[in-house]
Amino acid sequence: MAQKSETEDKVVIFDTTLRDGEQSAGAGLTVEEKLRIAQQLADLGVDVIEAGFAASSPGDFEAVRRIAQEVKGPTICTLARAVPSDIEAAGKALEGVENARIHTFVSSSDIHLMHQMRKDREAIMNMAVEAVKQAKQYTDDVEFSPMDASRTDPVYLYAMLEAVIKAGATTVNIPDTVGYATPEEFGELIKGVFENVPNINDAVVSVHCHNDLGMAGANSLAAVENGARQVEGCINGLGERAGNAALEEVIMALETRPDHYQAGTNIDTKEIGNTSRMISGIFGFPVQYNKAIVGRNAFRHSSGIHQDGYLKDHSTFEIMEPETVGWRGEALVLTKLSGRAGLRARLADLGYRLKDEELSDVFTAFKDLADNKSEVDDRDLHALMSEQHRFADTDRTYQVGAVHVVCGNDTEPEAEITLMCPDGEERSAKKHGTGPVDAVCKAIDSVVDMDVELTEFAVNAVTEGIDALGDVTIRIEKDGSIYSGRGADTDIVVASAKAYVNAINRLLMIDTQDAGATATPSETV
Ligand code: KIV
Ligand code: ZN
Repeated sequence: MAQKSETEDKVVIFDTTLRDGEQSAGAGLTVEEKLRIAQQLADLGVDVIEAGFAASSPGDFEAVRRIAQEVKGPTICTLARAVPSDIEAAGKALEGVENARIHTFVSSSDIHLMHQMRKDREAIMNMAVEAVKQAKQYTDDVEFSPMDASRTDPVYLYAMLEAVIKAGATTVNIPDTVGYATPEEFGELIKGVFENVPNINDAVVSVHCHNDLGMAGANSLAAVENGARQVEGCINGLGERAGNAALEEVIMALETRPDHYQAGTNIDTKEIGNTSRMISGIFGFPVQYNKAIVGRNAFRHSSGIHQDGYLKDHSTFEIMEPETVGWRGEALVLTKLSGRAGLRARLADLGYRLKDEELSDVFTAFKDLADNKSEVDDRDLHALMSEQHRFADTDRTYQVGAVHVVCGNDTEPEAEITLMCPDGEERSAKKHGTGPVDAVCKAIDSVVDMDVELTEFAVNAVTEGIDALGDVTIRIEKDGSIYSGRGADTDIVVASAKAYVNAINRLLMIDTQDAGATATPSETV
């Protein structure tokens, strides 16, 4: 495997899972969930966390403010349109924070200027410069993005970059907003930026690539080859539409091929697996099996020839050691005989720091699981922790109590469900449905007295075997917004009830957080 040079450049890793990633349809997060993810991103060692878009809603403002105050290590950044009210909100959210960045942006392509902004180039240039100057009043660390840069007239783009750097931008970010560029073109664009913007060395050149044609990672790396030294992206490739560059892929390309890229990162790559699983669990977006670096098949060898070579020498069919990305295999298991200390140590290894009172609840849930399942491995523990976190806030959320179903091929399915309600009362309802899950959802609807549409339902086995935990992902729609929910249990009907209630809780919490919102990110970015 390629060796690292002592003098390699560092690429700044800018994680936007909590901002662009949260723009994935159906991915609303609560403030507490964002905090947990931000803490894990800090453990991963990302340099910058884009914690949200402070002006977009009170919930986002609060998330940015709390992450900036509570998460130590990375620079905390918030997005802001190039308008005074957004920058003021950004400044307020980051007030008193040492490593704070404001990331302001405005569209620069003629397509956007004509059809969206309805302003001419001069007016837009002015907005960009004024925004950077205003942001500088709050922090020295100011990033500017010309949105849709890859479809912008390069001459106008160069002039804009020169002007914002002169106004004080310390990072200039070149977005391929619609994922249109090819790696060769995008690399050329970055080269052009270095050759045509006279003051370019006064700022870090960053890139932000979307994955509409599946080229976000390749485009980001082509930019690094041409001098970019910050890459923006999301864990698991989350993000608007087809997502952003998958950060774990960019990071591992740099770490695996330093001979080619002559650049590395500050990332603790062993935390990649934990981060991916935690984010997948909280977002309710399963990771595709064959996903590079973090998919469950990424390090599995199946064909006879491959297995033969791999057993003789791993290097025959493996370019990275799985352990370097935190892959532990399935060898480490806990059983019902395992104690609290063993569980605590294993969870700490997976990135979950537990207070004593939290450990008690988790231990009870672990024992319940271990009673039904002979061996509990890391995948079960991640599912179990997601489950604990989902139902932690008992004052504001519904909790699933008893679930009874009657079903079969000669009877009309019927479910009776009891929920613990946020007001402290227990309420039950009994309903018929087309199947047991439909009956459960109808009974829950009746208790919470809400009309939502179930748009997606998927069950996955967390591990192999007939005793595996069933991991259910559900999406519901209400008033045009989508909310996801996940639930795990060895009984898939109970898992479905948990997932459905989780989606309803998310809907209620996000609605409460965002009451009084002025604009949502998807309306503006
Ligand atoms: O895709 C994009 O252009 C963005 C900008 C706000 C950087 O997300
Ligand atoms: Zn984006």
